[in-house]
Amino acid sequence: MLSIKNIGLTLGQAEDQNEILHDISLDFEPGKLYVITGPNGGGKTSIAKVIMGIYTPSAGKIYFDGSDITGLNITERSRLGIRYAFQSPPRFKGITVEKFLKLANPEITVNQMHWIMASIGLCPENYLTRSADNSLSGGEMKRLEIASVLLSRTKVALLDEPEAGVDLWGFEQLLNLVTASHRQAVERTTIIISHSEKFLEAADEIIVVAEGKVQERGNMEKIRPLIEEGIECRWRQICLGEEELYETQQP
Ligand SMILES: Nc1ncnc2c1ncn2[C@@H]1O[C@H](COP(=O)(O)OP(=O)(O)OP(=O)(O)O)[C@@H](O)[C@H]1O
Ligand SMILES: [Mg+2]
Repeated sequence: MLSIKNIGLTLGQAEDQNEILHDISLDFEPGKLYVITGPNGGGKTSIAKVIMGIYTPSAGKIYFDGSDITGLNITERSRLGIRYAFQSPPRFKGITVEKFLKLANPEITVNQMHWIMASIGLCPENYLTRSADNSLSGGEMKRLEIASVLLSRTKVALLDEPEAGVDLWGFEQLLNLVTASHRQAVERTTIIISHSEKFLEAADEIIVVAEGKVQERGNMEKIRPLIEEGIECRWRQICLGEEELYETQQP
């Protein structure tokens, strides 16, 4: 099980420091699919980066399968079986798409590689020999990065807005791939950061994060009223107060 306990995160330089996360505690159980949602700037990616060891928390601890992993870096966490598909994936100069996928799973067979390429809607003949660098479009790289996390034998798959930059035609395919991979992988914890109602509907548990705090947890039934009234509007209301919100909406 992955647990984060009383996590605080402060980012920025000297006098420009900001407290981004405040006392966040979450448990993620094996076999469950979680969706973290909430307004832009609420702290979702920051939570993912703390889990992955990209950001060092200013308070709190992270535990994985009973061990304290707070001091481990991204490579060490990835070796333990925690992998992250970035909201904006980095590019890799000098390696082909085929090599990129093999790095994620060295035992991958040709058939599996063709299957995963077809599942993300990229024709293997056209893409496997291409370079995984800036010559790929944003949506192509996004699909490849999601594929690399899903085909690795990871215990925790953390996907940051998998739908971002993926076209409408590819969305249903992506949703099916992510949910099917989760079901097939034994005891994998899948954590998806998403604004998409379809992903929210597929979740065992939804976590709403805003203003750097966990505001709500539950299933779609519990969270739906929040979505319908507009999560962003609701939290802005709390943050600014109703009168001020009204004033900010004046032209
Ligand atoms: N390196 C950084 N230095 C300073 N502030 C940062 C840094 N990274 C993120 N922030 C700030 O932390 C807050 C949370 O950002 P984060 O990226 O976690 O939000 P998010 O919930 O993922 O938003 P989105 O839905 O837009 O992706 C934002 O106000 C952001 O500006
Ligand atoms: Mg984000």
